[in-house]
Amino acid sequence: MRHLLSIEDLGADGIEEVLRLTDSFVEVSERRIPKVPTLRGKTVVSLFYEDSTRTRLSFESAAKRLSADTMNFSVSTSSVKKGESLRDTVLTIEAMGVDAIVVRHGSAGVPWQVAQWVDAAVINAGDGWHEHPTQALLDCYTIRERFGSLRDKRIAIVGDVKHSRVARSDVLAFTALGAHVTLVAPPTLLPPSLEGWPVEVSHDLDSVLPKLDVVYLLRMQKERQTEALLPSLREYTATYGLTRDRARLLGEQALVMHPGPMNRGVEIAAEVADLPNAVITRQVANGVAVRMAVLFLLLAAEGDARV
Ligand code: NCD
Repeated sequence: MRHLLSIEDLGADGIEEVLRLTDSFVEVSERRIPKVPTLRGKTVVSLFYEDSTRTRLSFESAAKRLSADTMNFSVSTSSVKKGESLRDTVLTIEAMGVDAIVVRHGSAGVPWQVAQWVDAAVINAGDGWHEHPTQALLDCYTIRERFGSLRDKRIAIVGDVKHSRVARSDVLAFTALGAHVTLVAPPTLLPPSLEGWPVEVSHDLDSVLPKLDVVYLLRMQKERQTEALLPSLREYTATYGLTRDRARLLGEQALVMHPGPMNRGVEIAAEVADLPNAVITRQVANGVAVRMAVLFLLLAAEGDARV
């Protein structure tokens, strides 16, 4: 694999390989000094055209734990503000000698375009509404950590599926590993066509919750909504929010997940996000080890010591 642009680049076997490799990087992360020399001399740059807290820090931390050098590119303080194009920006960065470029952009497809311009490995850290493969990998890892495998697990993805790259990558990854996925959302927050999506759809969260192994909540992505898709947020919360009362419908073992950033009080009640079965910070912790595995797969030369 030269790049990680879509979950489809991996397939079920590739996902399993990343998850197995992640086990060893979780072990590294738990060491007193959580660092290995594997990627010494390599440079990883993050090129973020959109805001990010978790994904950006997570990649940076993953690269550093592998002893790679890191560079950060922030659009708001760069020459993009002076009119430099994406291509010129990318070629400038590559001229400095980088081995991997982690790209986040508001438009779908940009990481594919970047991959055509450079020799470096390109990792998609979120492109528009399209995909966010490393998020899906860390979500798979978190579910597998709790249940051993995703096979036959019942997972509902609830909320603004239409604008969610996380949902697209998660559906591909969860179903590739044998889970059953139900999308739960008002019709206005579902993609216009679900043809080819191996999912069920429901508009009744209360009836879905008791059967689930995982409820996965999405943020209302208002920055991507160009029209009024909901009567009001209060109404959304009343019908689709994981309120305290609704959370009681979940089985004892069921996990509550969220990619972050959360809007407590909208898609998830403040106190539900802190329940013992809410593994939201576990997802973040696993994200670092998963991204170490991805960087290792893309950048470590054949024959390099594993960890
Ligand atoms: C998400 C994103 O930016 O795609 N967050 C993340 O990367 N963990 C989801 C969101 O913005 O709601």
